[in-house]
Formats: sequence, structure tokens, C-alpha cells
Amino acid sequence: MPRKAHQIPTLLVTGSNGQVGFELRRSLAPLGIVIALDRAGCDLSRPDALRQLIRQHRPDVIVNPAAYTAVDKAETDAEAAFAVNGTAAGVLAEEAETLGSLLVHYSTDYVFDGRKAGRYVESDAVNPESVYGKSKLAGEQAIAKSGATALVLRTCWVAGAHGANFAKTMLAQGRERDSLCVVADQFGAPTTAALVADVTAQIVARHWLCGDRATFAAGTYHLAAGGEASWHAYAVEVLRYAASLGIALKADPASILPIPASEYPLAAPRPANSRLDTSKLRETFDIHLPDWQQGIHFLLDQILS
Ligand SMILES: NC(=O)c1ccc[n+]([C@@H]2O[C@H](COP(=O)([O-])OP(=O)(O)OC[C@H]3O[C@@H](n4cnc5c(N)ncnc54)[C@H](OP(=O)(O)O)[C@@H]3O)[C@@H](O)[C@H]2O)c1
Repeated sequence: MPRKAHQIPTLLVTGSNGQVGFELRRSLAPLGIVIALDRAGCDLSRPDALRQLIRQHRPDVIVNPAAYTAVDKAETDAEAAFAVNGTAAGVLAEEAETLGSLLVHYSTDYVFDGRKAGRYVESDAVNPESVYGKSKLAGEQAIAKSGATALVLRTCWVAGAHGANFAKTMLAQGRERDSLCVVADQFGAPTTAALVADVTAQIVARHWLCGDRATFAAGTYHLAAGGEASWHAYAVEVLRYAASLGIALKADPASILPIPASEYPLAAPRPANSRLDTSKLRETFDIHLPDWQQGIHFLLDQILS
């Protein structure tokens, strides 16, 4: 049944100081009363307190962008990563199921090993190679087990105005150094936190709050900007666009040297192929996903203005 107009829904957002959490505070605001909680207000490593918090607020929608996202640190901190990314996701799902609420949760391209030749579809076999990827998969599995009505949005290469990310790192390095070396054999789609938050709001508004909940198309969806790039191509575009805005840089796009990932070793393995097929999301929810350059230009306009 569609909701009556006078019923103002409550939406609880975790991780409100993260890249996506920060943007969700903006994008969800017109939908209802947003309870945005940072780590101090809602600690995902404390499952009992988390349950109590949800029971206290009884939200119509729980949106969970909070996560243990320190990918390299997770390799030696598995217990903490699994507690936040696995156990807590399951707790939120169980509480959502009890309340009859919708859970929106975010997952990652790291659930795949990156060896597929083409874009990953939702039904492709998962095979995470990092602790982070395994912990995020544990979250997906706990949500599925709960029976909750849940939207699991797998995204990749996220960058937002609020928080640390690759685009900001390239800008900082481009200001400090004459030349940079950037990995050119890993591929994905640079996706802004704003896009992730806006798509979330569109789906929640149109298909859950104003839609027929009995036919809501819960499940796992890939959400990323259109197009694709290597980290190297992404870095080139960041510096090219910054220069076009008149930003003083020591490095120029031509001085960004492409290197293989093998020359930039990190603690956690990264998938070489993070390209997500987003057809299911676009077709199910009538969503347009603009090319990644559009979002990154807008992000740079914000960061550099
Ligand atoms: N960033 C990417 O490239 C990327 C790619 C694919 C998928 N994702 C997924 O997308 C979602 C959003 O990512 P993001 O980029 O917005 O991440 P982010 O900027 O790192 O934000 C994560 C937030 O989670 C919070 N957090 C960490 N541990 C917590 C705990 N124990 N209790 C409560 N909050 C906790 C952090 O709090 P503090 O601010 O206090 O540290 C932070 O605000 C995550 O599920 C992530 O796995 C991200």
C-alpha cells in the first residue's frame, strides 16, 4: 500500500561523517526525518547497543554507509573489520526485519577477485581476496540470511567532497611533485559519493516510501558511474580538469607515468577488474547513471572553489 501523505517517515543513517554518509544527510533530507549518527552516536562494533538504538528509534528506513574501510589495515585487523562489516550488518538486518523496515546497505567490488574479462553482473561468483572484501561479503551474507527487505548496493572507487580519496590525493601530489607514477592496469569507474547518495534517495523515495512495498525489488545491485577508467586515466583527468580551472600544479597530465600494480605493492590485494555492470539497477529502478567524468568534474568544482 502507498503511504499516506501526512505520515512523515524516519530514516536512520549510520556513519554520517563518511563520504557517502555525509552526502546521504543532504539527499535524504527531503524524504523525512533523518537521524544521522556518526561513530560516537552509533558504534557498529557494539552489537547490543546497536540493537537498542534501532529499537529506540524504530526507523522506517535504515541506511548503512558506515563500514570498516581501511582496506590495508584490515589485513592485520580482521576481527574489527568482520565485526563492523559483517556482524553489525546482520544486526541491522535482523532489526529491520522485525520492524518491517527497509535496510539499505553498501558493498563493494572487492567481493570479486577481478579476474573476469568483462563487467561483473550481480550473479557472478564472488571470490574476495582481501580481508576487507571477505568482511564485506560476510555482511552481504548476514543480510541475506536475516530475511529483511534489503537493498545491497555494491559500488566502487568512491570519492566525495567530505573525506579522503584518490582524487584529493592526486590533487595534493600534483601540487607538490613534478611527476607522479599511477597504476594503469586496474580498471573501474570513479563514482562520487553524491551519486551513490542521490541514487539511494531516488530508490527509497520512489519505490519504497511512495511505491508498493509488496512489490519492492529488494536485492543486490551494482551502482557505479558510467564509463570506465584506469587509476592512471582517472589521475590524468583530475589534473587536466584542475589545470583547466586555473589551479597551479607542478605536475601536468603528461607527467603522470603509467605503472603496473606490481610496482606499487600494498598490504591488501586489489581487483584488477572492478568494472560493475549496472544494467540491473538502471532497468529495475529507471535510474540514469552519468559518465564518471561528469561527477568527478562536479566534485573538483566543489573541492577547488
Ligand atoms: N570508498 C570506496 O572507494 C568504496 C568502494 C566500494 C564500496 N564502498 C562502500 O561504500 C560504503 C561507504 O563508503 P565511504 O567511502 O563513505 O566510507 P568512509 O568515507 O570510510 O566512511 C565510513 C564511515 O564509517 C564509519 N565507521 C567506521 N567504523 C565504525 C564503527 N565501528 N561504528 C560506526 N561507524 C564506523 C567511519 O567513522 P569515522 O569517520 O569515525 O572513521 C566513517 O565515517 C561502505 O560500505 C564501503 O564499504 C566504498
